[in-house]
Amino acid sequence: MNQKANRGQQLYEKAKGLIPGGTQLLSKRPEMFLPDHWPSYYERAKGCHVWDLDGREYIDVTHNGVGSCILGYADPDVNAAVKAAVDAGNMSTLNCPDEVELAELLCELHPWADMTRFTRTGGESVAVAIRIARAASGKSKVAFAGYHGWSDWYLAANLAKPDILGKKGLLLSGLNPAGVPQELEGTALAFRHNHVEELEELVRKEGSDIGVIVCEPQRHEKPAPDFLSGLRRIASEIGAVLIFDEISSGFRLNCGGVHMVYGVEPDVAVFSKALGNGYPIGAVIGRRDIMNAAQDTFISSTYWTERVGFAAALAMIKKYRKENVHEHLSEMGLRMQKIWNAAAEASGLKAHAGHPDMPPLAHVGFDYPNARAVQTLLCQLMLERGFLDNGAFYATYAHSHDDLNAYEAVVTEVFRELADACAEESVEKRLHGPVGHSGFQRLT
Ligand SMILES: Cc1ncc(COP(=O)(O)O)c(C=O)c1O
Repeated sequence: MNQKANRGQQLYEKAKGLIPGGTQLLSKRPEMFLPDHWPSYYERAKGCHVWDLDGREYIDVTHNGVGSCILGYADPDVNAAVKAAVDAGNMSTLNCPDEVELAELLCELHPWADMTRFTRTGGESVAVAIRIARAASGKSKVAFAGYHGWSDWYLAANLAKPDILGKKGLLLSGLNPAGVPQELEGTALAFRHNHVEELEELVRKEGSDIGVIVCEPQRHEKPAPDFLSGLRRIASEIGAVLIFDEISSGFRLNCGGVHMVYGVEPDVAVFSKALGNGYPIGAVIGRRDIMNAAQDTFISSTYWTERVGFAAALAMIKKYRKENVHEHLSEMGLRMQKIWNAAAEASGLKAHAGHPDMPPLAHVGFDYPNARAVQTLLCQLMLERGFLDNGAFYATYAHSHDDLNAYEAVVTEVFRELADACAEESVEKRLHGPVGHSGFQRLT
């Protein structure tokens, strides 16, 4: 580690000896951003500003709490609701009425849904949805596209033979399924987003053994015209439960699930992240006939009844509706895409803004063989200028044009430096530490 390591890096070194992997979430590992130099820990966060352990202030233009804080950090309205819930007693032998109100509100936002179960995280919400869907369909095989968390049902896909994984390149690389029972091999079957023909092929091979189909309705690019409707048709034909995972896509383009924009109704949809604006809450909403299968199995947990998550979600949705938050998110995301494209043009850096169909989840790509190193150097140079920046910007309601003006004022100069570094083939040499990791790696 660098001699002049910041306090965050010093703490992270200690953490790695106490916490396997150093932190609870892969996407928060400092190595994913700027190995050896990322501030790593925060003292305080407000709006889109973050203060590290050395008292340095940054504007956060990364994923802002991994997509959770859609209104911004420490939102005053959400915090007021949470403080009221804490003061009123956030736990008791009796249930809090807020959970009924939230269930009703989520069904109002999604008129096809009749019932809701709650959890606290995204991964456990999908696991609950899968359990309900398997119980309802009476079949265990799951066909899926995309990422759905850390659970056994999902990582079982990575038990497939390496040649299958290598050939299709479908699954998250490096996600090691050690500890997942080998007996689950063949229970989670992958197809690619927007490739309905791959699901059809799975159905041909597996017959009607597939009881669950799960995907994100949209992550970045718009779903192909026949994709969601194709999944709906196949699910109905083979008697499978269709689940839309809205954990990252929910509340970005509209108040609720993005599937509402495309007019295709699943049987079950799953939310977390933005729903609680930073407070833990997950929701599984669905049609009554499917959701009632939760009664035929055992799904129950003490802290799923705790009040803070419900209070936060109610306050988040109320503010979202009142302020039409999705309009601001798209405005900020589109502005950032323009800033990147203009800076690329002015500097000669081969870079382009991606994800035009999902502006609130904007991203800049670098067209170089060592793109990961270029992204790491961006992170280093922007950190020196007071920005947390990894080239993937999840817009929040707290980002203002002033924040993006400040970003715009420095990013062209940084892109110029990146262009020079690329031309001189000195990107890696200019880094003060190693290139950022792009996936799961063991940390020693
Ligand atoms: C689509 C999707 N599903 C599931 C998850 C897992 O959610 P969590 O990290 O809250 O367990 C994520 C997290 O990134 C996600 O994007």
